[in-house]
Amino acid sequence: MTAPAAEVVVHDDAEALARSVATRLVETLASVQEQGRIPSVALTGGSIAARMHAAVLDVEGRQDVDWSRVDFWFGDERYVPGADPDRNAVQARDAMLRHLPVDPGRVHEMPASDEGHLDVVAAAAAYGDEVRGHGGGLFDVVMLGVGPDGHVASLFPGSPGLDVDDAVTVAVEDAPKPPRTRISLTFAALNRAREVWFVVSGEEKAPAVSRSLRESDVHATPAAGVRGLERTVWLLDRAAAGLVSG
Ligand code: 6PG
Repeated sequence: MTAPAAEVVVHDDAEALARSVATRLVETLASVQEQGRIPSVALTGGSIAARMHAAVLDVEGRQDVDWSRVDFWFGDERYVPGADPDRNAVQARDAMLRHLPVDPGRVHEMPASDEGHLDVVAAAAAYGDEVRGHGGGLFDVVMLGVGPDGHVASLFPGSPGLDVDDAVTVAVEDAPKPPRTRISLTFAALNRAREVWFVVSGEEKAPAVSRSLRESDVHATPAAGVRGLERTVWLLDRAAAGLVSG
């Protein structure tokens, strides 16, 4: 079965985008729970994600979600000490998770560099085991920011992780976006999502968005390598959509 075509939703600006994605997340989580399932969502790092996380606290219908029965995962993480503000998990916790009645046991943070793992490779493997052990690693939603170079999670253009198809995580030790050492879900994991949401703001992202929608080479534009099993949605502000035709 071929995945459906990508949808593009354009918003006036970054604030409208953040609010809209926050509402979409709340509505999706509530809908999955109405189906009797515990939703699994993979969060992403970055600036527009941070704004979206904060906007969740203002979504009117957020009480419709039983936040204690949501599994939160991370698409990637910076391999730094657990309390480091550079961590995507710390940013998501500070902006959103600690303000909601989530079950800490269902917030699946990627390992930190001071957690006693042998090294980032062992840490990545440990998270991969956790993802696979949880419902076979099928996500309801994977959210992804996109870099100006078209990277998603910590899958950067030309990186060996792009070709890892027998593991759900990969250790990255030469990331061009600091910090250099990271853990990332692989395409194999990112593509096991009912829905993939690309959340992208800013003119500097417009070329990568346009290339991704034109089915570019995933080694040059990693965002082109991810699509949802049921839906792929590009949630953009007008600046990031500037080169999208049609
Ligand atoms: C990270 C992110 C990364 C981010 C993009 C977009 O750990 O840095 O997961 O993939 O989502 O770089 O970031 P901005 O939205 O800040 O441009």
